[in-house]
Parts: sequence; C-alpha cells; structure tokens
Amino acid sequence: MNFSIVNKKADRGFVLPAIAFIILSLVQCTPKHQVVSSFQAGTTADNSKKGLKDYYKSYFPIGVAVNMASLHGPDSALIVKEFNSVTPENDMKMGPIHPSEDVYNWKNADDIVDFAVCHRIKIRGHNLCWHNQEAAWMFKGVDGKPVTKELLLKRLKDHIFTVAGRYKGKIYAWDVVNEAVDDSDDTTQIYRKSNWYNICDGPDFIEAAFRYAHEADPQAKLYYNDYNSEHPVKREKIYKLLKKLVDDHVPIDGVGMQAHWKLNEPSPNELRKALDEVTSLGLKVQFTELDITIRLPQPKPAPGATPGATMPPAPDPGYTPELEAKQIAQYKMAFDIFRQYKKFITSVTFWNVSDRYSWLDQRGGGLTGGAAAGANTPRTVRKAYPLLFDENRERKNAYWSVANF
Ligand code: XIL
Repeated sequence: MNFSIVNKKADRGFVLPAIAFIILSLVQCTPKHQVVSSFQAGTTADNSKKGLKDYYKSYFPIGVAVNMASLHGPDSALIVKEFNSVTPENDMKMGPIHPSEDVYNWKNADDIVDFAVCHRIKIRGHNLCWHNQEAAWMFKGVDGKPVTKELLLKRLKDHIFTVAGRYKGKIYAWDVVNEAVDDSDDTTQIYRKSNWYNICDGPDFIEAAFRYAHEADPQAKLYYNDYNSEHPVKREKIYKLLKKLVDDHVPIDGVGMQAHWKLNEPSPNELRKALDEVTSLGLKVQFTELDITIRLPQPKPAPGATPGATMPPAPDPGYTPELEAKQIAQYKMAFDIFRQYKKFITSVTFWNVSDRYSWLDQRGGGLTGGAAAGANTPRTVRKAYPLLFDENRERKNAYWSVANF
C-alpha cells in the first residue's frame, strides 16, 4: 500500500476546506450589512434555530424577493434566518438600473449583492429583458422615432454584457427574458406584442437575449420567467416558446414559474402537468415569485353593461379562519408536489418577506380585489396576506404546513 498517496489525499481533504474557510472568513460583512437584531426572527412562535431553508436543505434553496427596506430594516434578521437565496424585487430591472444610455444605477443592486455575499446567500438576477419597468430610451432614436431592430439588439447586448458582466460569478441564475408570452385565449398568438416584439418584428430578441447572457456569464444558469404558467392555454404557448429555444440550441437552463397563485389555482393536476411538460424538454424549474393571495374574485359587470363599467369591489372580509384554512391547504399542496419533483426544481422563491408588505396589497389601488380589516373600514390598500409570515413577521400556520412534512 502506498501510504504517501493516502496521506496526501488525507492532507488535501483537510487543507482545502481549511483554505476555503480562511478565504470565506476574510469576506467580512461591512457594518451596513449586519442584520438588524432588534427583531429576533421566530422567537415567539418557535425558538429553534432552524429556518425554512434548513427544513428544505435536502430539497432546494428557499429564496425571497428583497428591496432596500427589507435589507436594512427588521426583515433582515428574518431573511438571514429563513432563506438561502435572494432576488432583487426591482433593483436590477432594466429601467431602474439603466435609466438612460450612459447612466447605470448600481447602488441598490450592489448593496443586495454585497448583503448576500456577506451572508453566503445565493443570488438570482431579475431580469435582463422585460416589457415592464423597461428602459424606455432603448426603443427611441434621437429623433424620437422607434429605433431599428439592429440598434435595439445592440443596446440589449450592451445592457446584458454590462449588467451580467458586473455580477459574473456572484449571480448564479438570471431571469433572462420575462413575460414574453401573450395572455389571450387566442392559441395562434404566442408572443406578447411588446415594444421588443414589434421593433424586432418577431421573437428574435428572446433568443438574442439568451445568447448575450451566456456570452456575458457562461457559468450562470439562464431562465425564461413567466406567470400563469400552469394555465392550460398559456402553458401550451410557453411550451412552444421553450421547445423552439431548445430545438434551436439556445443556451437556456430552465423555466421560472412565477407562481402568483390563488386559493384555488392552480389545481394539483395543472401544477403537475406544467412541471411534466417543461421537464420533458430537459429543462429545470424554479418557482420564482411565489405568493398565494386570499383575495376573492371581483364581481364582473353584468352582460350588456356599459363597456368599461366597473363594479364596486367585493366585500373585504380580512384574513378569516376560512380563508386561512384554504391558504394552508394550497401551500401544503404546492410544497407536497415541489418535494416530489425535487430533482427538477432548483429553487423556490417567495415574492416579499411577510404580510406586512406585499406588492399585491397596492395593485389596482385596491380595486382589483383584496382582503383587509373590517368591512366597515374604508381602505385603499386591500391586503392580500399571501406569504408565510404575518404582519408581525411571525410564522403563520401556513408556514408549518410547509415546514412540517
Ligand atoms: C413587481 C414588484 O414587486 C413591484 O414592487 C413593482 O412595482 C412591479 O413589479 N412579475 C415580475 C416581478 O416578474 O418583477 C413583478 O414585481 C411582479 C410580477
């Protein structure tokens, strides 16, 4: 037996982790990235040191969308305890980060990356090409007229090279293209008629964005991200888009299913079907923006009503025990299925931290639905109560339906 080889292996087994440990220890958190400790996450409901990420250690990373308020306020302790992946809620989108040709706003995006690196949390980049929160200047020339396809793609390439290039090695996955599929029931209309689509006279920008992103950061995992991906009509359209990308050898690793869900949608079968379909293409899946609103559907105007007429909002009962029970059941159903598909799922991310603040609360000025305090309280904000932590950042019962399995 050659002991020297055995010893060398043993040495390496000890030395390499030791070096890695020393290097990691040198990555210091600056004072601004230390968590706000006035709040101790989970102290009332549960004293264990475990967070949701620990319950899911052998399944997939558990992420959360973050912004400046959550990073620098009491949410920060909860983020570090419960999650091991973050997505910037707004700060890497094209408009906010690149408001004019020669201007990049790095401050907030850098802050999020530094926070995550300091706490050894994974980072998903969101996003490189979208029709919303877009950089409007990109679509116009100096004369104010729409640019040519060539110039638009050049601008897209510069943008992606600059942003993905800056965070190379730190952001492990990017939502490269967001929401490029049409929402209507017209099955022949696959692509959304956005500025991107119209100026390029077709969907070429999608493939281009993936190729630029891959060139800018060859190690990053690249995702196509969309909502209603379990809805039967939209699911088929997304499938067609993905199949074309795969057939054309476009560098795509997976699909982001946003998962802005309702108490009764999707059904377990719809969710399984969506997963089966995209994974049959050899793609991975990330649930990228999970929340389950308790908002009830709004009344629809009666047939024959004046076009554009709106109905008064449905009564707003608040977070009742009945709605809570339905939300618990929907969360349980979703995570039961996620665990069954763990070999395909590479992360599950919640969109916001707790019910104290959800992007859903403000949507439509509260007139598109919602549920808030007493019916007699007029409120413009109708709360959606869509997350696993309540308004005091305590774990809800829905949390335990996901953590206890
Ligand atoms: C939302 C943010 O949460 C809001 O703060 C912002 O005002 C609008 O965008 N799909 C996406 C996300 O891909 O980027 C959106 O985030 C929610 C829907």
